[in-house]
This record gives sequence, C-alpha cells and structure tokens, in this order.
Amino acid sequence: MDGTVPVIRVENLVKKFGNFTALNGVSLDVHTGEVHALLGDNGAGKSTLIKTLAGVHQPTSGTIYLSGAAQHFRTPRDSSDAGIGVVYQDLALNPLASVTRNFFLGREVTGGPGPFGWMKMSEMDRIATEQMAEIGINISDPSQTVGTMSGGQKQTLAIARAIYFGAKVLILDEPTSALGQKQQMEVLKTIRRVQKRGDIAIILITHNEIHAKLIADRFTFLSLGEVIGAGTKHDLEGEEIRKLMAGGAELADLAQELAV
Ligand SMILES: Nc1ncnc2c1ncn2[C@@H]1O[C@H](COP(=O)(O)OP(=O)(O)OP(=O)(O)O)[C@@H](O)[C@H]1O
Ligand SMILES: [Mg+2]
Repeated sequence: MDGTVPVIRVENLVKKFGNFTALNGVSLDVHTGEVHALLGDNGAGKSTLIKTLAGVHQPTSGTIYLSGAAQHFRTPRDSSDAGIGVVYQDLALNPLASVTRNFFLGREVTGGPGPFGWMKMSEMDRIATEQMAEIGINISDPSQTVGTMSGGQKQTLAIARAIYFGAKVLILDEPTSALGQKQQMEVLKTIRRVQKRGDIAIILITHNEIHAKLIADRFTFLSLGEVIGAGTKHDLEGEEIRKLMAGGAELADLAQELAV
C-alpha cells in the first residue's frame, strides 16, 4: 500500500498552546482500508492531533494533506465536509431520544412541501437499522431510546452515523476505554467490519496495546508531542510496542511482584 497516495498525510505538524508545545513536528500517513492505531500515554498529544485533523485547532505550523491536497481547516465543519468523521468519547448521543432520531440528528429525511416537510420516519428507521446491521449490530426496534442500548451498541451507532453521512476517514477516540471486555470485542468487530469495506481509513486512538495488535495495520506512537515509534502490523507483532508503551518496564515489574 506504500505506493498509493495516503488519504491523510500529516507533515511536520506543530501545535503550540502559548509557550507550551503539544505537538512538536508530528508526521504520519493514513491509508484507505487500514486501521492506523495512535498510541501514547496521557498528555502525549493524541487528542491535540485529532482535534487538529478535525478542524477544532489550527496548526501552528506543518501541513495536513487529504488525498494529496493541502488542507486548511478553519472549523470542524470544514473538516467534516472534507470527509473526516470523528467519534468522540462522549459520542454526542441523546440517551432520551430514539436510535433513529440519534442517527439523523438534524439531518432528517423529509418529504412534502416547504423546507421542513414531513419527517419520513419509516424510511429513517429502515436506513438506521440497515446501516447499523451492515457493521454488525441488529437493532430490533429503532424506536427504542439510546439510553437502553449497551455501550458497544452506542459506539456502533455513532460509527454507522459518521459513515452514512460521508466519512472517508473515521477517527475513533478511545472507543473501548469505558467498556467491559465483552463490549470491547463487540466494538473491535465493528471496526474490523468497517476496515473490511475497504473504502474507509480508520484512526484508532487507544491506550490498549492488545487492541492495537489485534486490529491495526499500522501504528504511530506519540510521547510528549513527538513520534517515538511507527510501523506496520508486522512491527506490532514483536515486543517493540510493549517496550514503547510508557510504563512497559513497570508492567513487567508488577507482573513479577504479583507472581510472588
Ligand atoms: N487547549 C489547550 N491549552 C493548553 N494546553 C493544552 C490544551 N490542550 C491540550 N493541552 C496540553 O497538551 C498536551 C497534550 O494533550 P492531549 O490532550 O493531546 O494528550 P492525549 O495524548 O490526548 O492524552 P490523554 O491520553 O490523557 O487523552 C497536554 O500536556 C495538555 O495539557
Ligand atoms: Mg486524549
């Protein structure tokens, strides 16, 4: 895949907040059809990087290219119009509204005269159900409230929504961190299905090296605003990533301590 133009290229990105440098010359390539894991300890700059890709922050210097073209996102709207969809940790869902209402949220399908027309509820129910089924969650009743869904199902809803509304690059911020083991696997399966579509690039932010190993094709490891490791799936198979994980040495110590 290295011969192809990456859907996202980040080149020498610097982001300063006042005197503080949160990103200090970060570069990475993201390819369509691949999962790119973004790893790093607290404060490494992961959220700052994705917020810059999402148009929330403007870079201090450096360039973001989308399919080879330099971008200047001034607002989140610019980034989303360009096909970058971010699923933040809070998911931006309304627990009291239905699955379908959350799926459309201000982008309802309407008919009839006038700018508002009638909301085509049954068509919207069908679309929401189909889109979620495509990436692995069967919702029997799309009028159920989102508050009744499992954490994994909510993630899938947010992912299906981003894809349906045009994301070609899907950024997932710690999608498994608040979930139990079983639901984590559910979300990983959803990510795998999106990966298998082959037409979407996924940036997966995670603290979990096992998840990165399970699902990522490539990874970039940040520490204090700099890339300290990067590679492909094959590199992930060795011990390198474990060594890179901040606290890796302590982990080995802890394991030994527990074994006593
Ligand atoms: N708006 C801001 N103003 C000032 N400093 C900021 C701002 N946003 C982030 N920072 C600082 O930049 C650094 C990187 O933060 P960032 O949130 O990107 O880290 P992270 O890798 O996402 O960490 P975590 O794993 O805890 O989410 C931190 O030291 C943080 O305090
Ligand atoms: Mg963060």
